[in-house]
Amino acid sequence: MYHTGLMTENMKNPFINKEYGLYVHIPFCAKKCFYCAFNVNILKNIPESDYLDKLIQELSFYNKKWKTVYIGGGTPNLVTNDFYLKLFKHLDVTNIEEVTIELNPEFVTKKQIDFYKSLGVNRFSLGIQTFNENGLTVLGRNHNKKQALDACFLLKNENYSFDLIYGYPTQTISELKMDLEFIKKFSPPHLSIYNLSYEKGAFFYKWRKKGKIQALDDEIELKMYNLINESVEKTGLKRYEISNFAKVGYESKHNMLYWTSYPYIGVGTGAHSYYYDKDTVVRSENEKKLRNYLSNSVKEIKTLNILTKKDYVFDKFYSEMRKLYINYDDFLLQTGVNLFNLFKDNNNYESLRKFIEFRENLIYFTDMGVINSDSVFEVFYNIIENMEI
Ligand SMILES: C[S@@+](CC[C@H](N)C(=O)[O-])C[C@H]1O[C@@H](n2cnc3c(N)ncnc32)[C@H](O)[C@@H]1O
Ligand code: SF4
Repeated sequence: MYHTGLMTENMKNPFINKEYGLYVHIPFCAKKCFYCAFNVNILKNIPESDYLDKLIQELSFYNKKWKTVYIGGGTPNLVTNDFYLKLFKHLDVTNIEEVTIELNPEFVTKKQIDFYKSLGVNRFSLGIQTFNENGLTVLGRNHNKKQALDACFLLKNENYSFDLIYGYPTQTISELKMDLEFIKKFSPPHLSIYNLSYEKGAFFYKWRKKGKIQALDDEIELKMYNLINESVEKTGLKRYEISNFAKVGYESKHNMLYWTSYPYIGVGTGAHSYYYDKDTVVRSENEKKLRNYLSNSVKEIKTLNILTKKDYVFDKFYSEMRKLYINYDDFLLQTGVNLFNLFKDNNNYESLRKFIEFRENLIYFTDMGVINSDSVFEVFYNIIENMEI
């Protein structure tokens, strides 16, 4: 490990000695969805016990007190209750503010929810994607509309979130309106609604290149984005991140850690961690391949990346702008970079005027900026790349 001296020079690091967030990755799915490029394995025989042993080794390697826990996937509710019974013996969740588990609708039962709650889980994220039968087929999901609705009814008195996707091939405005009607009907405390992206490694990516499927026009996507804004905000959910809405007090505490540069540890295949070590900032990534993850030691499965000053500044801007604004006085204190001067002094600012604005000590995304956030990040990345810092 070498030191970059990143956090010196009068910079204030408010995160040192803080509790950490914990992400637990469960990399197993029943079927690979066509749009998905996540690190998952479709196996007849899931090596639950070997995987659990490795997770436990990782947890004891870190031996930390956790602020939030998020069990994601993959499909966490595909593995047995016994797996979680054993895992939670190594996770003290008594005073943890938020313990979330992701659920795929087709496996949800009342018994399962009650079991997770008995372990200390207090938040559920349900992967609906769409309530439209045709849409579920296009996306290659393993569940149907009835299973989605059954799971929603089972969760209706819990602290839960819906995961939806919009802008998938063939989706029409009236199909989106139907999804928005269901959101209104259930009025979930939290909603993640992602614009479909064509990720390298997903079937959709290949099929689009070969011309087998077509992406929607930008114009339709913009119309969809506006419809979502109008309809969801009427339901009492407020956008607090590029793809996330919540009722007051129901923002995801775990995801907020990512968007405020808080330290977190990820365990399981391909899981990422981000933490501060003396005057360095470390990002680490676990081995992605299940077989290698299982056969190597905890130290061997981790690739550590000590951030350069430029990495750190870019990462911080990228993750914190996701919650739609940054206090640039704080940013200056924590990085030494003055965002106000950086953007205003740059020739590119004219092209970004519609996307970002400055008010008091905040830089924030306009509505157009939320849709075009990637352009803002790209300009920022280029400025930082060419800057002496
Ligand atoms: C990795 S998945 C895990 C949750 C669960 N396995 C499921 O699919 O319901 C987390 C969420 O990311 C979103 N997602 C995954 N791939 C995406 C893509 N290519 N474009 C947009 N959203 C995507 C989906 O909404 C999904 O629910
Ligand atoms: S979207 Fe979810 S269920 Fe589908 S393959 Fe990816 S992780 Fe598995």
